[in-house]
Amino acid sequence: MGSGPNPGFSMPPFVSFEGLDGCGKTTQVRLLADYLTRRDIQVALLREPGGTPVGEAIRTLLLTSRSRGLSPLSELLLYYAARNQNLHHQIIPAQAEGKWVLCDRFADASAAYQGYGRGLDLSVVEALDRMVNGGRKPDLTLLIDIEPSLSLARARERNRRTGLDEGRFEAESLDFFRRVREGYLQIAAREPSRVRVLNGSQTIEGLHREILGLISTFLPGGQA
Ligand code: TYD
Repeated sequence: MGSGPNPGFSMPPFVSFEGLDGCGKTTQVRLLADYLTRRDIQVALLREPGGTPVGEAIRTLLLTSRSRGLSPLSELLLYYAARNQNLHHQIIPAQAEGKWVLCDRFADASAAYQGYGRGLDLSVVEALDRMVNGGRKPDLTLLIDIEPSLSLARARERNRRTGLDEGRFEAESLDFFRRVREGYLQIAAREPSRVRVLNGSQTIEGLHREILGLISTFLPGGQA
């Protein structure tokens, strides 16, 4: 969607962060945004689902434990409705203004969670993706890989701590998170140059440094 690893080309890069709940991607996306801002690079820091007023309303609907009973297809359609808003109201305008786009989750989350996790046919996810994204993909996807049991423990602890009612996914079984992880790893195996798998059980600082190494190809002079 952006310039690819070729600085000086027209579009600033679009980088997405993926991984299981509680993998630490939200911390890393913020650290990277701070780093780029310090280098005077303009950044749009986005998240899915959410960001736009409609996207945030859809987020509440999707994540509240009161939405039990949402069918897998309805869930997928709601994620893509939020994504369509995000794409047209945030991602495309930000890139047009010359900003790097850092997105906390994007379309790979739908393939991993609704496809591999919920068992929806991947061709349905792909058809919707073509309709909404028209074949656009992030230039780089950072997949922060952690053990499903750690994911579940961290996500439940966070929900307790923040008091947010975003617990619908945390109520899922360990098997669900194992399928999602497997899905993410299969996506990475199919597209190894776009999707980079990072070990999420290392220190925050270690992971940040690894990420700086990976995004350096997009920086002027290629050095972080
Ligand atoms: P997120 O806010 O990234 O949660 P966390 O910070 O815990 O990682 O995502 C919220 C939830 O939405 C998360 O459980 C994953 C799920 N999700 C999908 O199932 N499909 C999607 O397409 C997206 C974007 C998220």
